[in-house]
Amino acid sequence: MPTRRKVLAGLGAAALARPLAAAEDAPGLGALAAARGLIYGAAAGPAQLADADFAAAFRRECAGLVGENDFKWSVSEPAPDRPAFARADTVADFAMANGMKLRGHTMIWHEQLPAWVAERIASGAAGAEAAIRARVAGIGARYRGRVFSWDVVNEAINGADRRPDRMRMSPFFTALGERFLDVAFHAAREIDPSAHLAYNDFGVEHAIPWQDGHRIGVLRLLERLRTRGVPVDTLGIQAHLRADWAFDEAVFARFLREVASLGLRIEITELDVDDRALPADAGVRDAAVASLTRRFLDVALAERQVRTVFTWGLSDRHSWLSTFPGRQRADGSRQRGLPLDEAFARKPMWHAMAASFRAAPSRG
Ligand code: G3I
Repeated sequence: MPTRRKVLAGLGAAALARPLAAAEDAPGLGALAAARGLIYGAAAGPAQLADADFAAAFRRECAGLVGENDFKWSVSEPAPDRPAFARADTVADFAMANGMKLRGHTMIWHEQLPAWVAERIASGAAGAEAAIRARVAGIGARYRGRVFSWDVVNEAINGADRRPDRMRMSPFFTALGERFLDVAFHAAREIDPSAHLAYNDFGVEHAIPWQDGHRIGVLRLLERLRTRGVPVDTLGIQAHLRADWAFDEAVFARFLREVASLGLRIEITELDVDDRALPADAGVRDAAVASLTRRFLDVALAERQVRTVFTWGLSDRHSWLSTFPGRQRADGSRQRGLPLDEAFARKPMWHAMAASFRAAPSRG
């Protein structure tokens, strides 16, 4: 086998002058997924996309883009009735300019909610309903024809709130009960008849007790929504995995089948692997992250209703896992839960994803 150095030397001085990341072999994950009728994309924001090296890596790897924070209520409407779409526009423009599929994240979520919205929601049912309708209509209209799939409602289930139906006691639920989802999805369908409309949640991937309950909560909610004729057509599975938590192929496959049997399509929306419980050695961490990614994606992609895979970031240089309180590693090193390393070179997780895409059955 020729070494990488010898191969590069054989390519001459021009190739050697290129940055290391650009020397990665084609094709990227987006192309590998597309060969099976799947979409691969990642979350990013305007600051990252303004970095030319990152943008080049993103173009090489991704066929889809979702704003990590830019479409959220606190960013896109921080002051009452004064939409501020500059950041979301930058993300949308990058996607359109590069022929990428754009996901919208997220219309209705109890986090990153501006204080003025929280006040209106708390003012009672009429105020809450009006606020939800205005939010969905405003952002839905602006990105109609560009966003192909919207996270209409994010994270409405929370077993820790100890309700039998496992509904989260969010401000929206407190004001309107479960009907807040009906209001949001009907408003979304009305403003954008062609986008996929997703309910998006975490905590349904691992074989651990609280996630057993979360799966039941999500399934029962989706069943009720479908029974009431609420126009949700997609379950978004966030897939924030943890390298040290049990994963059981049969449990996850059964859940996917149950969701699909409700007539829903499925998207993997925020895949990454939290390695904070693993030892410092990067090789050990990379192997464990890659192994779990492969096991997870092989099960996910065997279910034909799974149509997209998005990771929550592309490179370890920018991951919420390395900055968000409570997620950081105790040894102070960055988490290594994304397909590219800090220098935008492909890691074992990249190769695991590529292998899963290559092995996936083709979508029609
Ligand atoms: O931009 C400000 C900066 O000006 C300020 O100095 C700094 C100090 O706290 O905060 C910065 O904002 C942070 C923002 O990320 C940008 O980095 C917020 O505090 C922080 O709360 C925010 O975290 C985001 C988190 O959602 C909010 O809950 C993460 O970036 C984002 O990756 C994360 O994404 C969520 C999905 O939307 C839903 N699913 C789970 C996923 C991971 O938590």
